[in-house]
Amino acid sequence: MQTKREEINRMVQDVKSLPALPGIVVKLRALAESDAASLQIIARLISSDQILSAKVLKLVNSPFYGFPGRVSTVSNALILLGVNVVKALVLSSSIFDLMEENVVGLWEHSLGAGVAANIITKRLALPDGEEISTAALLHDIGKVIIKIKLKEEAERIRLKVDGGEVSIREAEKEVLDVDHAEIGGWLGKTWCLPEKLIEPIACHHDPVRSVTYADRTAVVHLSDILIKASGFGYSGDDLVPRIQEAAWKKLNLSDHVLREIVDEIEDKLIEVKNFSLEIQSSHEGKV
Ligand SMILES: [Fe+2]
Ligand SMILES: [Fe+2]
Repeated sequence: MQTKREEINRMVQDVKSLPALPGIVVKLRALAESDAASLQIIARLISSDQILSAKVLKLVNSPFYGFPGRVSTVSNALILLGVNVVKALVLSSSIFDLMEENVVGLWEHSLGAGVAANIITKRLALPDGEEISTAALLHDIGKVIIKIKLKEEAERIRLKVDGGEVSIREAEKEVLDVDHAEIGGWLGKTWCLPEKLIEPIACHHDPVRSVTYADRTAVVHLSDILIKASGFGYSGDDLVPRIQEAAWKKLNLSDHVLREIVDEIEDKLIEVKNFSLEIQSSHEGKV
């Protein structure tokens, strides 16, 4: 007999069972598997869909990548952010749509984590900041899958969280035998995202499990905790976990630098809120 865990794994592996993917995303996923994918082919593919390009450009110009000027074309976005980031944004676009409309608190929590990751990577002068911010933006994507594909279980998880001291992650493990972080990692595999994006998503609550990309995972872990502590957005529970010691050591931050990072995040949150409100109003206009 299939366990709950296996059942969910199989469901996430089945692209057709996931939120409606426009044809272009399916093509992009196919391209992702071949080495022949060049920047131009990808740029042309995305640019042929106006709604999708507008969406990608909106995210690229959002506060968490922190580009001073406007990025106005998909080709520029690919050059500035890299193929992995743009691909991840395109592949997640249907799920972002669902989040923006139905789980605004989680959407804002995700945007906030993206901003926090951007600030931390800049402060630590880590390379590939845009990829790390993208992993932070996607870190809780597994929660959306649970919410839309496992409605009855999601309700049981919510009741457990509302009823006591249990975190959403613990409740997920009790009900599903797997948590949203691991489900997010499975989704990344289904989409053929690179391991450097998948590992920080899959291990963001348990960074000690991250072997190859421990730095990136530590940043996403800290970003999630800092944004929860700030009270911005809502990730599904009110508990702020402790920073895992291994991640703290890995980042090697002093209390003073951490304070500065927290202040910088606080300053940026108004911009993030405005960005989120702008997106909300665009949905209202759509009807
Ligand atoms: Fe999480
Ligand atoms: Fe989170």
